[in-house]
Amino acid sequence: MLYSIKIRTSLKEKHISGAERIVSKEKIPNVVKALLKRQEHKDFDFSNVKIEKISQKPIILGKSLKIKTYKFENYKEALGFALNIISAKTNLPLETAKKFINLLYIGASPDKNNMRGAMIVNEKGERLEKDKFRGVRTVLVDFKNREIITKKLLEKGYTERTVDALALATKNLNYKNLIAEFCISDDNDYTTGYLAIDGKYIRLKPLKPYGLDKGGRIYFVKNNTNVDELYNYLEKIPVLIEDINE
Ligand code: COA
Ligand code: AMP
Repeated sequence: MLYSIKIRTSLKEKHISGAERIVSKEKIPNVVKALLKRQEHKDFDFSNVKIEKISQKPIILGKSLKIKTYKFENYKEALGFALNIISAKTNLPLETAKKFINLLYIGASPDKNNMRGAMIVNEKGERLEKDKFRGVRTVLVDFKNREIITKKLLEKGYTERTVDALALATKNLNYKNLIAEFCISDDNDYTTGYLAIDGKYIRLKPLKPYGLDKGGRIYFVKNNTNVDELYNYLEKIPVLIEDINE
């Protein structure tokens, strides 16, 4: 039996961090302890730990997306690089793709804050989220043996953040109608972003200016995407990834 452990932490009602693990029952105490330890130096006033039994058999993916890293002089060059790929693969005119991505840099929610999840855009340039403040969040995903994967990735010079984001993007791209994911963090001091597309997780350094507390994700999908099915896959279907793609 597997359990999902989710932790989310906020300060003055603003979400500051979140993480998820999928583990067997006997590992729960240690994993909860490790998740709590991750936030011991954070200033927070609310933290929620949720443990739920996973009733459905997880989808097992043999390999994650393949990691690539590209460095640029500045974030505008990196953004230009990503936009060209997105436009070519989604058939969205460059200006349309740019219009949506620019929203992430100013706060994509209607109140100009960050959205609480990802924006969804189809090939016609239509936004499909059911709620434009919230967007959709990808949950129920982890590496089957996170310790081994984390060790491997840290040895290669990546961070724990890469482990989390790689898992999330791998689940996303496994969905048949999801063409690409574009992501910039909302942490003001973390400027590396990524584009997940065509089996690759392309880290782009830097993808946003230092000091900016805006960020977000866009899932680019095909026109024939059924929105309820997509939400169901992202929110309800568990996915475990066995290894990284080296
Ligand atoms: N961003 C902003 N607000 C969030 C949030 C997030 N990622 N996750 C939860 N919240 C807040 C929202 O206010 C939410 O209400 P809403 O559903 O109306 O938006 C509320 O908390 C409750 O959300 P819920 O979905 O019940 O949270 P949860 O306890 O199931 O935890 C997380 C979900 C935090 C585990 C998940 O959102 C998450 O962040 N997973 C890790 C993602 C990750 O690894 N990212 C890669 C980092 S690079
Ligand atoms: P982060 O990578 O944690 O800095 O998050 C960057 C942005 O991605 C957030 O501001 C949200 O808009 C969005 N986001 C956060 N968590 C999720 C999730 N689980 N699924 C989809 N989008 C998310």
